[in-house]
Amino acid sequence: MTNRTLTIIKPDAFGAGKAGKIIAHLEQGGFKVVAARVMRLTTAQAGEFYAVHKGRPFYGELVEFMTSGDCMPMILEKANAVLALRDAIGATDPAEAAAGTVRKLYAESKGRNAIHASDSDENAARESRFFFSETDCIRG
Ligand code: RTP
Ligand code: MG
Repeated sequence: MTNRTLTIIKPDAFGAGKAGKIIAHLEQGGFKVVAARVMRLTTAQAGEFYAVHKGRPFYGELVEFMTSGDCMPMILEKANAVLALRDAIGATDPAEAAAGTVRKLYAESKGRNAIHASDSDENAARESRFFFSETDCIRG
């Protein structure tokens, strides 16, 4: 278990001005922001980031959504960060997300679900390098 993971405040939440509330919620839950940026993903970037889902029925819609506006990738730090953040964001579909999770509080639908979180230490490292320099990844 490492102590860092990668999150993205997705375009639905960022565009609706919910980034501050989501970051405050995560900080309240013990996460520390180690690196952050605001960017609009290209189709190629979104397609590569979610390449594991290529061929799934929702892939095209997912890439379109993730490129629809600015988003906010961040590296977060907490003990057992990957599992802790998956717990904090809740189920993929906000209708199934537990009370008090980011998706229950801020997501619109299963597709437009406010936030991404890495699902393993290996993917957290890979996804952190996708958005941030080596210096950003090792700082602190
Ligand atoms: P994420 O990777 O963004 O943290 O989400 P997740 O692990 O909870 O869910 P995953 O299965 O990895 O799916 C990635 C994203 O694709 C969209 N999706 N839409 N309409 C659908 O049935 C559907 N299924 C997945 C969501 O934006 C989901 O977060
Ligand atoms: Mg996922």
